[in-house]
Amino acid sequence: DIKGVIFDLDGVISNTSRLHNVAWQQVAKQVGAQWTESLSNNLKGVSRQDSLELILQAVPADHQYNEREKQELANDKNKHYLRLVDNMTKNDILPGIVPFLESLKHNNYQLALASASKNSSRVLEKIGLSHYFSEIVDPQKLSKGKPDPEIFTTAAKLLSLKPDQCIGIEDAAMGIQAINAANIFSIGIGEQDILKDADIVFENTNLLTLNNIREYFEQREL
Ligand code: G6P
Ligand code: MG
Repeated sequence: DIKGVIFDLDGVISNTSRLHNVAWQQVAKQVGAQWTESLSNNLKGVSRQDSLELILQAVPADHQYNEREKQELANDKNKHYLRLVDNMTKNDILPGIVPFLESLKHNNYQLALASASKNSSRVLEKIGLSHYFSEIVDPQKLSKGKPDPEIFTTAAKLLSLKPDQCIGIEDAAMGIQAINAANIFSIGIGEQDILKDADIVFENTNLLTLNNIREYFEQREL
């Protein structure tokens, strides 16, 4: 029986995936990296340092950035991102998420947050959703990021649940890999093509309802 639901944040609960993009695009422009749809998709779910590396790999010139310069670029991105977060309101919650969280609470599911973002608590506070989550994984305490399963395995442990008692929800291909590697049932939010390894894919968060999930479980007789 499913008892817990583990959420990614950016692009699942809030539209911060877009805000991360806006801030990274600025860095890309600054270093002369070409911003593409595929670069933007590859950044989803990836830590700040690793995201910067991916952007620097897309720079045609062979200038090598030293650690200090990289730190500066990462700091600039975060300052820009936090300015955008400061202006967030409840309107930045993705559609259907509040009713979904409410229905999970009413049905006594336990909720955890498994975001790679060091800003996740701040974002949850800004949009007023902190109280729904009994556990928030601290990504700074992990040794490996998504697609490693560690963040989802840790979330399940914090909820005192086994992986097969949980569902994980992600918008990033890397995140789906991480959920699957943790042996947790995976739900992808977005394009089927990108999230093809997920157990179920919903095109958008409006379709994320307990009924839709249950329907799937009944069909599969899980
Ligand atoms: C999430 C987002 C990424 C972001 C990463 C680190 O995984 O999907 O876009 O780069 O968190 O976020 P942070 O707020 O710590 O820079
Ligand atoms: Mg995400």
